[in-house]
Amino acid sequence: MPEKTPAPVRKAVIPVAGLGTRFLPATKATPKEMLPVVDKPAIQYVVEEAVAAGLSDVLMVTGRNKRPLEDHFDRVDGLESALKDKGDDAKLAAVQYASDLADIHYVRQGDPLGLGHAVLKGHQHVGHEPFAVLLGDDLIDESNPVLPRMIEVQERTGGCVVALMEVPHDTINLYGCAAVEQTGEDGVVRITGLVEKPDPADAPSNLAIIGRYVLAPEIFDVLRSTPPGRGNEIQLTDALETLAADPQSAGVYGVVLEGDRYDTGDKISYLKAVVQLAGRREDLAEELHTWLREYVAALDAPQVGGDAAR
Ligand code: UTP
Repeated sequence: MPEKTPAPVRKAVIPVAGLGTRFLPATKATPKEMLPVVDKPAIQYVVEEAVAAGLSDVLMVTGRNKRPLEDHFDRVDGLESALKDKGDDAKLAAVQYASDLADIHYVRQGDPLGLGHAVLKGHQHVGHEPFAVLLGDDLIDESNPVLPRMIEVQERTGGCVVALMEVPHDTINLYGCAAVEQTGEDGVVRITGLVEKPDPADAPSNLAIIGRYVLAPEIFDVLRSTPPGRGNEIQLTDALETLAADPQSAGVYGVVLEGDRYDTGDKISYLKAVVQLAGRREDLAEELHTWLREYVAALDAPQVGGDAAR
């Protein structure tokens, strides 16, 4: 890997302007990133992940429903004074925590013309420095974060870095897929090509691209000249493919995620996130697990005239 003088990664861009059609009608008036996972909206986990990786300057690229997002990360006087009056210190602290978490900025995407277009909207705020992109509907298990290693690889190489996840071969057609070569470093690969949603028979690997990127600022110029691709949207994957194929660029690398990841824009993955994250909570785990065991036992039991699992 070529060594470069490191420019520190300081800023995170979180695109939250997608239409969320897979979750309609819940997402008709609310961004999907505001759907609750246990008792926090998905977006709060993502901002917490950015802050934990040292990125407390956050730009959200918002769409038509930006109000609930802004409100969530803002102070709410009436609510705070009501909790103060009731002496509910724990809830007051939880409410204030969200508004003190990060230095959050907002820019409008306008028309949702694709993830690449949303990232391009961050150019003015980011300037000419490397930055992270975290998809606001992708949750990554906090006990096994991938972002710190991605930042380290970006700062060392000056290239672009994507998070990869091994998936069963017959499901690779649901993801962007990376063709890779080894770097000699455990868990880090060099990306030689990217294929969007390939037929499993033609897939170059079982490594899927997931919603974390650490990008060199060169990506902005490439995005600007990237034509609309799949779904008539400007695809970040297409711009990364251009950089991967360009011998003059500092390259595109992949860091393979070890832990769990949930796509909260997908119904089944969302349900898994709620159950698994609640199961890790001291205040909820015991009761939830007891009920889950009973529920699964009832599902497995022979059904005698009606609904066994309630
Ligand atoms: P998705 O690919 O999940 O698309 O976006 P979507 O439109 O939001 O959802 P579905 O498929 O219709 O259900 C991945 C991420 O990129 C953001 C989304 O908000 C999400 O965090 N995004 C996507 C934008 O910000 N702008 C876009 O134009 C597209």
